[in-house]
Amino acid sequence: KMRAYKGILSGTLRMAGVSTGKYIMPYFLSDFMEEYQAIDLILDVTNRGKVIESLAKNEIDFAVVSVLPAQLEVEEEKLMPNKLLFIGLPGRPWQPENDEGFASIPLIHREEGSGTRMIIDAYFQELKVAPKVRLTLTSSETVKQAVIAGLGVAALSVFSLKNELERGEVEILPLKGFPLMSEWRLIWLKNKRLSPVCKAYLDFIRTRKKIIFDRHFSWANQY
Ligand code: PGA
Repeated sequence: KMRAYKGILSGTLRMAGVSTGKYIMPYFLSDFMEEYQAIDLILDVTNRGKVIESLAKNEIDFAVVSVLPAQLEVEEEKLMPNKLLFIGLPGRPWQPENDEGFASIPLIHREEGSGTRMIIDAYFQELKVAPKVRLTLTSSETVKQAVIAGLGVAALSVFSLKNELERGEVEILPLKGFPLMSEWRLIWLKNKRLSPVCKAYLDFIRTRKKIIFDRHFSWANQY
């Protein structure tokens, strides 16, 4: 009975996610897409600033972020914990001896508007240290490739590093205050009229998120 009902619900789910969302969102969608064969998906993975802008204009139904927008009233459903790790190439002398040491370690920064960038800026402000930033790159994948190529150190979500950590291609630098914890969240505009497709997705997330985390993301607990 339930399957038949699910089968007739049709429409398009419009979503956007920040750059790290590409490692996460497919897993929070695959069973849903399987169960609702008549629902299509449009998913934009882009800069956080643009994600928030699309949400504000009601061009998308849901966004996946870790850092909540400050100027927009949204509702949220937490998906799972997020963990930012500081990483570099194994075997490089990149662990600072003290806070001032950061002034000489090449730090790879994210672009303006990135949530990771906001968190790292706040971290260094707290330390009262100006890090040595020579590279500013767009997207977490680009930053990761730069770290692997030996260009410097960076803070990245553990979820973007599964294969590299498993293969020992990157090393976690045990910096003070790290890992930095936050949450991955599904957000939508407050007062949004949720379509039946949106309601079905929210319902799916609320009932399945724990199972999805246990099945696909609990490996991250070890780091
Ligand atoms: P980012 O955003 O991947 O653009 O850094 C993450 C976030 O929303 O916190």
